[in-house]
Amino acid sequence: MALKHEQERLERDLKLDEMLQSESGRAAFWSELGEQAKKDSLIDLLEGTLSLEGDVIECGVYRGSSLFRICQALKQGGADKAVYACDSFEGFPDDRVTTRDTTLFRPLTKLRAKFRLASDVPDRIQRFSRHYGVPVQVVKGYFSNTLPTLALDRLCFIHLDVDIYESYKECLERLYPLLTPGGVVVFDDYGSSKWPGAKRAVDEFFSTRPGKVERSTAREDAAWFVRKPLAAGA
Ligand SMILES: C[S@@+](CC[C@H](N)C(=O)[O-])C[C@H]1O[C@@H](n2cnc3c(N)ncnc32)[C@H](O)[C@@H]1O
Repeated sequence: MALKHEQERLERDLKLDEMLQSESGRAAFWSELGEQAKKDSLIDLLEGTLSLEGDVIECGVYRGSSLFRICQALKQGGADKAVYACDSFEGFPDDRVTTRDTTLFRPLTKLRAKFRLASDVPDRIQRFSRHYGVPVQVVKGYFSNTLPTLALDRLCFIHLDVDIYESYKECLERLYPLLTPGGVVVFDDYGSSKWPGAKRAVDEFFSTRPGKVERSTAREDAAWFVRKPLAAGA
C-alpha cells in the first residue's frame, strides 16, 4: 500500500515535469500552489513570521510537496529569505527508526523502507528554484551529518515533517536555539496516530523549555506549532 502511494507520487511528478516545460504550465502550477496555500495553516503561520529576522528551513522534504508551497508563499510575500531543504532523499537512517515509532500492525521493517524513492528530488528542486527565482539550498544527507555543518544564522520559521522520534529530537535540539523570538516551528506529525514518536519528542523537548504546543485552525488544514516566546533564550 505504502509503495503504491509512493508510485502514485512519482507518476504525478512525471506529469509535473512535463507541465514545467512550458510557460503556461509553469503559470498553472504556480497558481495551483497558491490555491493549496489558501487552505494551509502551515502557510498562514509562515506568513506571520516574514517580517522577522532569519531564514526558513524545512526538514523532511521527500518529493517537495510542502517545500513548493513554502517557496510560493515566500515569493508572493516578497520575502528576501534563504530556504534550506534538508532530507536524506533516501528515507530514514535505519537504526533511528525504533519501537517508539511503531503502532500496532506497523512493523519496523515496513517503516524503515519508506521514502526511499526520492534520489531525483534534489535536481527537481533546483529546477523549480531556477524556474521561479526562489533561492533554495538543498541539504542532502542524514540530519546527524548535515545539520551540524550548516552555516545557519537566524531562522524565522522551521517546518519539521520528519515522522520519527529521533529525527524530531535531533532537529529541535539543533534548530530551535536559532529561532528568532516570535518565530514559529511547525510539527507536521504531532497529532498523527501513525507516528507516536513525533509527539513524544516534541513534548519531551518543551517540558524543559518555555514554549507551548498549539494547534492553528486559521485555514482548512490545521497545523501544530510552537511560537518562541519573546523573552525566551535557547
Ligand atoms: C513525511 S516525509 C516528508 C514529506 C514532505 N514534507 C511532503 O510535503 O511531502 C519525511 C521525510 O523525512 C526524511 N527524514 C526523516 N528522518 C531523517 C533523517 N534523520 N535524516 C534525513 N532525512 C530524514 C525522510 O527521508 C522523508 O523524506
